[in-house]
Amino acid sequence: MKSTVKILVISIITLILATLFFSFIILKPNYENITLVENNEHPGKKLMETNCYVCHNPVTSHDNRLAPPMIAVKKHYKKENTTKKEFIDNFKKWVKAPSEEISKMPGAIRNFGIMPYAPYVEKDIEQIADYIYDNDIEQPEWFEEHYQKGKKNGMGKGKGMGKGKNKNE
Ligand code: HEC
Repeated sequence: MKSTVKILVISIITLILATLFFSFIILKPNYENITLVENNEHPGKKLMETNCYVCHNPVTSHDNRLAPPMIAVKKHYKKENTTKKEFIDNFKKWVKAPSEEISKMPGAIRNFGIMPYAPYVEKDIEQIADYIYDNDIEQPEWFEEHYQKGKKNGMGKGKGMGKGKNKNE
């Protein structure tokens, strides 16, 4: 008799706990969505800043640069009819084996020497190229006048960190 009561009490407690547990699962606020919004930044941006900005950054002054800023590279690799796939493929091809034969920027090789090879992860280069293709890349203050011949491209993102020299390469 006593043990029947015990079993009954245990069953009721179990039932209550189970109900509580499932209602938590069902009613739990959806935190995943909130995190997604906060982490919305393209992973290629960070990868580019870490791996490429040592040389291709937009803030080193014109005279102290080690390489053209990434915006200049983009303008040579993305023409009006370049598809994203072509762009990414060309970036991967270059980074895998930089050489004069496949260069689209022979002037830059003359000015800076050829880009040194480094064993980058192919997936990272894909992400970086994907980011560059789709987004406005920060450009140095001197770049606009340096590159454009009157054509305004409206990016207007100069941060005033370049020295504003317009000396041609
Ligand atoms: C140690 C310095 C250095 C680093 C780091 C570097 N580059 Fe370069 N890169 C250069 C130099 C110098 C040039 C210009 C000369 C040339 O074209 O080889 C260049 C040119 C390029 C070009 C144009 C090549 C051409 O001639 O057609 C691409 C594309 C490029 N870099 C992509 C990248 C990417 C993507 C990264 C990061 C994953 C990166 N670079 C990191 C130095 C660097």
